Amino acid sequence: MKILQFGKTGQVATAVQAAVRDGVEVIALSRADCDLENPEAIRAAVLAADCDLVLNTAAFTHVDPAEARPDEAFAVNATAPGAMAAACAERGLPFVHLSTDAVFDGLTDRPYVETDEARPINVYGRSKLAGEQAVLAHPKAVVLRISWVFSRYGRNYVSFMLKLAREREVLKVVADQFGTPTDGEALAAFLVATAPRWAAAPVGDPVFGLFHFANAGETSRFDFAKAAIDRDPQTKARLEPTTQAAFAEPAPRPPRTPLDTSKLQSVFGFTPEPWRLAVERTAERLV
Ligand SMILES: NC(=O)c1ccc[n+]([C@@H]2O[C@H](COP(=O)([O-])OP(=O)(O)OC[C@H]3O[C@@H](n4cnc5c(N)ncnc54)[C@H](OP(=O)(O)O)[C@@H]3O)[C@@H](O)[C@H]2O)c1
Repeated sequence: MKILQFGKTGQVATAVQAAVRDGVEVIALSRADCDLENPEAIRAAVLAADCDLVLNTAAFTHVDPAEARPDEAFAVNATAPGAMAAACAERGLPFVHLSTDAVFDGLTDRPYVETDEARPINVYGRSKLAGEQAVLAHPKAVVLRISWVFSRYGRNYVSFMLKLAREREVLKVVADQFGTPTDGEALAAFLVATAPRWAAAPVGDPVFGLFHFANAGETSRFDFAKAAIDRDPQTKARLEPTTQAAFAEPAPRPPRTPLDTSKLQSVFGFTPEPWRLAVERTAERLV
């Protein structure tokens, strides 16, 4: 089982490479190997690869800079995955792509299901939604929407909060943004374990299409941070709740984007772990 992976150094890319097990090989492409702003290079990489499945973990993930650099965000988050999917379709290869809860406006009173209308409120969300639409034109495409990803790898909310809490006396954290954290290592294990199933599935199989992947439950940014730092003996910061508006960031954030994972559970038999357990375990491994 060989996976061609776009992205080598990012958080999820690293977690996938750490999750490989016997019988699975990941050929990871960095920016130097293939720049995602070059669709021809993407097509050439897919057509030339000796692989059974293509996975895209790379993206323009800088939510605030995306407001000032929409062309780059759309090139990397929409045109590039579209080119990957089209090249996979040429070869009949399955293509697995990652998207985000930021495709939603956050004005919901219940967790989002895959059929809810996506109405992104910032450039990053709009570019990721355009990517989903381009990718899903391929009948053997899989799009997993994930949210608030954390792991032992890369720069992420849990590692960042642990670092800040050791450096500062007071840590102001947004208490009016709600969502579902996603354990990047559980995601990586799921991707590696499911790859053979995707590779063997025919067009029309329910394993293809759009899915939400996240841990169980819902939390605020504030309680997410608290769970991350609570057990670190070197934490010196006191957490203080603040609002999203007080941060005045360039990109607006959707206020509430919990993801309902019922479809994932019924198609793949995957049971997500409660978010707090996964956050506490990851934080313990990081300190
Ligand atoms: N992290 C989250 O909380 C979160 C939440 C929801 C969805 N997601 C989605 O999950 C996926 C993985 O996210 P992540 O957290 O692993 O992201 P990440 O750590 O920011 O990694 C993104 C990777 O994309 C690469 N990249 C960016 N522009 C590129 C280009 N022009 N050519 C080639 N490579 C390029 C980066 O390479 P360089 O290192 O060279 O810049 C980096 O390795 C993305 O699709 C993201 O949208 C993430």
